Amino acid sequence: MNENANRPTVEELMATAESKKLDVEGVKAAFEHHSAPGFADQTVRWLPESEYVHELLLSTMESVVGKGGRVLDLGSGTGRLTRLVLDRFPTCSVVAADYSQTMRNAATPELSQYGDRVSQIELDMFSSDWTTDFDQFEAVVSAFAIHHGRNLAQYKSLYRRIHGVLKPNGLFINLDHVAGQDRTQTLANASEWRDFLDEDGEIDSDRFILGSYTEDTPISLRDHGQLLEAVGFDQIEIRWQKMIFALYSGRA
Ligand SMILES: C[S@@+](CC[C@H](N)C(=O)[O-])C[C@H]1O[C@@H](n2cnc3c(N)ncnc32)[C@H](O)[C@@H]1O
Repeated sequence: MNENANRPTVEELMATAESKKLDVEGVKAAFEHHSAPGFADQTVRWLPESEYVHELLLSTMESVVGKGGRVLDLGSGTGRLTRLVLDRFPTCSVVAADYSQTMRNAATPELSQYGDRVSQIELDMFSSDWTTDFDQFEAVVSAFAIHHGRNLAQYKSLYRRIHGVLKPNGLFINLDHVAGQDRTQTLANASEWRDFLDEDGEIDSDRFILGSYTEDTPISLRDHGQLLEAVGFDQIEIRWQKMIFALYSGRA
């Protein structure tokens, strides 16, 4: 714990973040910034139970792509999740989609070892027309990217597009930053996360909280579930939840 008496409360940090909230262009610019790629690759430091939840994500995919298939990674960033999927399922292929040139460039050297099992594409997941470009996928995966939806309508249209690119019974699975069911729960979850970050000893936890709530627009798991159901997903499951993070899935 950081015992500094002058330290802002989590509520104050979140209020500051909300007053400095980045617009859509600002978020994209942040990912184009040269220092962005390093963040996601340190998940073990800022994500509770990081190894466990990534293993859970992969084992959930087993029945769908264990014998091969096509996977779409939305907001693939440095290719971290793409590589985990390619390593775990040697007969599957991945389309790694991201709207940031900087992030795609950072992913390219590591992804090149997988040859034609992987392709990288430029795609803004919240734009309206991307579904027409694809054959259907066995699975759509994502980590720490979908939380950039700006409102329920945007999330819903994204979920409709994801449903549209999945084969029947295909899997959508997302590991992400989510909101609590109400403000009180969101604050409690963020406080718990700050305590967890403080245990690292070197992480500036207040900066992490400011950064997350300046850039992200998370919604609650209840909202995610309702939106997924509304666009036709079935078997909607919360597979894991800890602090401000969750792993949830649905079947097309
Ligand atoms: C925090 S990184 C996570 C990267 C990767 N999924 C991981 O877990 O390591 C978020 C990524 O989502 C991408 N992203 C954010 N909004 C996006 C959008 N609207 N369309 C496509 N990519 C987006 C960013 O460029 C960034 O690479």
